[in-house]
Amino acid sequence: MKQPNVPPEAKKRSLELQKTIRYHDKKYYDQSEPEISDFEYDRLYRELKDLETKYPSLKTTDSPTQRVGGTTSKHFKTLPHRVPMLSLDNTYSLEELQEFDQRVQKGLGNEKYEYVCEMKIDGVSIELIYEDGELTHALTRGDGEKGDDVLENVKMIKGLPHQLKGSNFPERVEIRGEVYFTRADFEKINREKEEQGEQLFANPRNTASGTLKTIDPKEAAKKPLHILLYYVFSPKPLPFDTQEESLQWLKKQGFPEDPHHRICKTIEEVHSYCEEYQAKRDSIGFDCDGVVLKINDFKQRIKLGETTKIPRWAIAFKFAAQRAETTLKAITLQVGRTGAITPVAELEPVSLEGTTVSRATLHNEDEIKRKDLRVGDRVIVEKGGLVIPKVLQSVPEKRKGNEKVFKMPTTCPVCESKLEREEGEVAWRCENAACDAQVEGRIEHFCGRDALDIRGAGPAVVKQLLTEKLIHDYADLYYLKEKDVADLERKAEKSAQNLIGQIDESRKRTLGRLLFGLGIRHVGVHVAEILATRYKDLWAVTEAAEEELTAIDGIGPIVARSIVAFFDTAANVKILKKLEKGGVNLKRLKEEEPSGEQPFAGQTFVFTGELKGYSRKEAEDIAKKLGAKAAGSVSKLTSYVVAGEAAGSKLKKAKELGVPVISEDDFNNMIKKYR
Ligand code: IVH
Repeated sequence: MKQPNVPPEAKKRSLELQKTIRYHDKKYYDQSEPEISDFEYDRLYRELKDLETKYPSLKTTDSPTQRVGGTTSKHFKTLPHRVPMLSLDNTYSLEELQEFDQRVQKGLGNEKYEYVCEMKIDGVSIELIYEDGELTHALTRGDGEKGDDVLENVKMIKGLPHQLKGSNFPERVEIRGEVYFTRADFEKINREKEEQGEQLFANPRNTASGTLKTIDPKEAAKKPLHILLYYVFSPKPLPFDTQEESLQWLKKQGFPEDPHHRICKTIEEVHSYCEEYQAKRDSIGFDCDGVVLKINDFKQRIKLGETTKIPRWAIAFKFAAQRAETTLKAITLQVGRTGAITPVAELEPVSLEGTTVSRATLHNEDEIKRKDLRVGDRVIVEKGGLVIPKVLQSVPEKRKGNEKVFKMPTTCPVCESKLEREEGEVAWRCENAACDAQVEGRIEHFCGRDALDIRGAGPAVVKQLLTEKLIHDYADLYYLKEKDVADLERKAEKSAQNLIGQIDESRKRTLGRLLFGLGIRHVGVHVAEILATRYKDLWAVTEAAEEELTAIDGIGPIVARSIVAFFDTAANVKILKKLEKGGVNLKRLKEEEPSGEQPFAGQTFVFTGELKGYSRKEAEDIAKKLGAKAAGSVSKLTSYVVAGEAAGSKLKKAKELGVPVISEDDFNNMIKKYR
């Protein structure tokens, strides 16, 4: 079939969408810090899918529409899902449910069929594996193909059977469901965190995800996770043939019961169920973002089958995010730890999704201009699963004439230095690294959960330590004495001891956490972990040149430049030395060492010319897997140049510098015994 020509705008837009969706996948799945609501995400996703349907050549294999987001964590054993964990097709419109029903009807010919409607719980999906009746694994979704085994944490969930009853089941039973927190428990957890002055969790889903990935199961046990199971299957026959019967079986086995599911015989009954639950979603007690409807009969499910990503026998109807109208009283500026300025909407308090909203992020100056938001405007705010709500738009019809157009200040609201905006960047920045707000933000970040994890040093305590001039940077924490802290207002002696004890504990954290905690721009948890696996200690990272860093898989030029700039700054090096003197671990710990054999650790390879057996990237990947670095150009530091056919200037350079040159066959001989 002839494929339609792709107009350049469509190509450009699809690349843009791919990039944006990948970014948000990472935020949602890997960092548990979503920035946009599900509704906005789904809109982007749908736009990309529509473009790809219209112009199939845009559907590249790495498009986010072709895979499930999320990756695995290295703290847990990763195991494959026997059956991939698919996602669900979803829609926000009842008309599209009708279309889904028509497709089902067509797929099943004249057969009668019925749906089971269930709540779509906004939690974290999990797969339980029972072998000979015993719960042996609990896998997260991971990338859909393989997930992390978080069994020990899952076993801490109250009311979850560790053993199946009776013997009427096959030797392997797989059960999928959702792990979540109730809203009440989530609020209690956050209240306690607030009292401790710790950073709050973003929402129940992220809290559940974080709890499942807690390294110490005893810690996980302290939080009241819930679980609900909705999908039982097995490589062998099971003692039931429908969804309804499987839910009954789960109940008899002692699993928590779902009181909300209902059999619907027609799509009209499904509509009523969706409308009913949309109306009462706030009184259910946990976050649910829609309804899942699935064909009841398992044989009919097989008949309908699935695509590589979604089953054809189920679909999710998603509730639109809740919105409310209120007044934009003022726009204030927040200075982040990197100096980025975020405008914040100060709102007339309004109730939304069970909480009171009085502030919302406005992201940046351009957003305010684009939405033409004026101080005094009536505005629409949306929450959509995020703790920090968003201002969607203003209601210009309601303007009285005294609303004020926002003018971005030219100086930092905290230190009054001039704000700068680099070309191509959306954020204005305060470039004064000594700005109080930045200093405070950096210390808070350093003490944060994914960094040095000093629980007692939450935002309130950090602020107090700074005001009392007990610390000036994060390294000063390691020189605090119990009596310094005990003097602090609102700190009883016991908590002072706690804080000092926690600071002491944090001296032993991993190199990865430390690298993340330093607050280098563009270095997130993932990049920090990559660096920690590569380098034996912090000083080795400080010595890495930009080119060497860029050669590492997962580190791009912007990140590399930022790392080098950080370590080139004398003030930063001074703080690192202070950390070292304060007894903080700067070395890679055993658990961070690269897995598998690393016979080429410390060596750098440069591949040049045309290779017979591999593409350049493939050869580089093999060398990297065995511990080597792969560089793009030859220098004195190069260990080997692997020269293929028609190698040119790099070969010449190697000869000039006396770097060993080997052939592709030599390279094959070198790697033979490790592959
Ligand atoms: S059924 C192959 N039922 O929603 C179909 N999923 O967007 C398996 N979810 O991956 C999914 N509540 O994590 C199903 N009652 C429910 C659900 C549910 C929440 C989640 C689940 C799934 C995602 C799809």
